[in-house]
Amino acid sequence: MENKNFFCLLASLLEQADKVANVASVYGSFLKKIKKSAEKNIELKISEFTRNQNNNQVFNLDILELLDKVSGDILYLDPPYNHREYGANYHLLNTIALYDDFIPSGKTGLREYKKSLWCKKKYATVVFEETIRKANFKYIFFSYNNEGIINSDDIKTICAKYGKYDLFTQDYRRFKADNKRLQKANKTVEYLHFLEKNG
Ligand SMILES: C[S@@+](CC[C@H](N)C(=O)[O-])C[C@H]1O[C@@H](n2cnc3c(N)ncnc32)[C@H](O)[C@@H]1O
Repeated sequence: MENKNFFCLLASLLEQADKVANVASVYGSFLKKIKKSAEKNIELKISEFTRNQNNNQVFNLDILELLDKVSGDILYLDPPYNHREYGANYHLLNTIALYDDFIPSGKTGLREYKKSLWCKKKYATVVFEETIRKANFKYIFFSYNNEGIINSDDIKTICAKYGKYDLFTQDYRRFKADNKRLQKANKTVEYLHFLEKNG
C-alpha cells in the first residue's frame, strides 16, 4: 500500500482534514463551540504537488541522527523555538498519518509523543551547538525567533566558534492564534542566522 500514490493521497487528506478541524490552528486543545470552517464537509481533493528532476529524499529522524547520514553545501534549520512541542500540538494529524491503535489520554485525546530537546530551556542551547558541530555542510542557515529559548548572543558565540557568522532579520505581524499570551507585541522579528563553516 505504501507507494507514491499512497503518500500523495495521505498528504491531501491531512491538508483537507486540517481545513475543517475545530481548533485554533494547533491541536493542543479543541474549541468549545464549532467554528464556521469546521461546520463544512471535508473535501477530498488532491493537494498541489510540484514535479522536479531532483532526487529528493525525505527523512523522519532526530537531527543529530540525520547529520550522521547527510552532508552537502547548504543546511537550512528551522527547529521549534519555544516550549510548545510539535508532537502535542499536531497529534491528531500524526494519528491520521499513522492510522494505528493507541491509548488516548486527557481531554484532547493526546497520544504519546517523543519530546524535543529544542523545546527545553535546559537542553536547547546544547543541542544547537551539537547540531552546528556535527553538520557536515558549508553554509548553515538557522531560522529562529527573537523570543526563542536560545539567546541570540549565544547563537552568535557558538556559530563564531565554527566559522564566519552573519545575521539577517525580518519583521512579521504576529500570528493571530498567539494573541492570548503574555507578551502581546503584535510584531515579531524572525532571525535568520548564517554560518559559513570552516572547512
Ligand atoms: C518550526 S517547525 C518546522 C516547519 C517546517 N520548516 C515547515 O515549513 O513545515 C519545527 C519542526 O522541527 C521538528 N523537530 C523538533 N525537534 C526535532 C529534532 N530533535 N530533530 C528533528 N526535527 C525536530 C518538529 O517536529 C517540527 O516539525
